[in-house]
Amino acid sequence: MVIVMKNVKIALPSLKTAKLRRNLGIETIHYKMNDKYKTLGVGKTYSIFTYGCQGNEADSEVMSGILESVGFTLATDPMDADVVLVNTCAIRENAEQRIWGVLGQLKGKKRENPDKIIGICGCMPQEEKTTSKILESYDFIDLVFGTHNRHELPKLIYQAYLTKSKVVEVLSNEGNILEDAPKIRASHHKAWVNIMFGCDEFCTYCIVPYTRGKERSRKKEDIIKEVEDLVKEGYKEITLLGQNVNAYGKDLNSDYTFGDLLYDLDKTGIERIRYTTSHPRDLDDKTIFAMRDCKSVMPHLHLPVQSGDNEILKIMNRKYTYEEYMEKIRKLRKNIPDIAITTDIIVGFPNETEEQFQNTLKLVKEAEFEGAFTFIYSKREGTPAAKMEDMISDKEKKERLLRLNELVNEGYKKGHERFLNQIVEVLVDGKSKNGEDMMCGYTPHLKLTHFKSTDDSLIGKVVRVRITEAKTWFMIGELYES
Ligand code: 5AD
Ligand code: SF4
Repeated sequence: MVIVMKNVKIALPSLKTAKLRRNLGIETIHYKMNDKYKTLGVGKTYSIFTYGCQGNEADSEVMSGILESVGFTLATDPMDADVVLVNTCAIRENAEQRIWGVLGQLKGKKRENPDKIIGICGCMPQEEKTTSKILESYDFIDLVFGTHNRHELPKLIYQAYLTKSKVVEVLSNEGNILEDAPKIRASHHKAWVNIMFGCDEFCTYCIVPYTRGKERSRKKEDIIKEVEDLVKEGYKEITLLGQNVNAYGKDLNSDYTFGDLLYDLDKTGIERIRYTTSHPRDLDDKTIFAMRDCKSVMPHLHLPVQSGDNEILKIMNRKYTYEEYMEKIRKLRKNIPDIAITTDIIVGFPNETEEQFQNTLKLVKEAEFEGAFTFIYSKREGTPAAKMEDMISDKEKKERLLRLNELVNEGYKKGHERFLNQIVEVLVDGKSKNGEDMMCGYTPHLKLTHFKSTDDSLIGKVVRVRITEAKTWFMIGELYES
């Protein structure tokens, strides 16, 4: 749909168009700064508010890199920056509510300083209803762009400054791949590495395939080169990112799979490799064997199950059953006996019965998860599940979530207790919020660990810690050897 505002034609994003998988060639865009914008940000500050998944965090690092390459500097107070970007998440209603709240606060700031540029980007603008709402009621927002045109950021900001009117550019295409963009990484020892973008799974509750476009993999050479460079820069840990990393390479028409990529990345000399997120149906033997064989691939796997009921799994379009999921868990444990497995679970999918919910509880016990992100189903306009009638009350859904969380929390605690009195390797992130003289980091099994130390030189190093206490959300230990 095209609407006309202040004599400017604006094309609204369309979920219907976004859904099409036309198998058009995916464009790889090699970022090159346009000289016209080289000094655009000189003397100006920027800030980015980032919500949602690690994919968004990685995107924000790219946007920071692009902004700093044209002269912007990071603002000390994010609210007071000359350019404020809000990188949004559309996965659930409550994520969106929080973002509308932040936008409300920014409205006041814009009133104080009318020259400030406020931009909204990421997944929310890809939804037509959001962009319409912004156009109708959020006059103070200058810039609206989606997930497929970050590389045009300098041009969009330039236009916003020049035209003093709203700049809206949301593409509902299948997406592209951006290479060679500058990045300002948030950490000096841990890095996100995108290996693929988009999602073709179309789980019936999920908005992501519409907002993030078609599954598209980066070339393995580009990924390996990025990791080799990170090793040279002293990075210790990488997390490979994609909505479904196990589908890596399927769109490249080659036999090279995610498992092959793990074996190759292990050879780069990076100390720790993690990856997220996996789809149980696509998790194959080669990936499991790579986890077994490669020292750098960490013994933790996040494997979202969503539900333990076969009927619900079918309506969710997850393409596996309880039994098939458990078969994968058994295979993982057989090959990597000490593996820590975590998951995502949705309760209150339309018309989920008590019995169906009980099946989820049963699976949680049987799978022995050591953690889970648990969610109440949230209706996402434009997805197939949004059309389903739902007779389950909100109260019932909340009660189910509490019951599930009780069980999940036992799993968290057990997952920590198994390391009591053991010596674990902790990659130190920094000062702990757990006490003045404490520092913290993560073990190979992704267990948050606090220990007594004030030695900042340990940040970014792997130290050995003896675990003395196991809590629900973390472990406490004492420095054994650094
Ligand atoms: N409602 C609730 N949870 C959702 N997720 C995705 N879409 C929805 C939704 N509509 C959850 C899934 C997914 C995680 C990233 O978010 O559990 O794995
Ligand atoms: Fe959403 Fe399913 Fe794709 Fe995950 S696999 S992003 S839940 S559609």
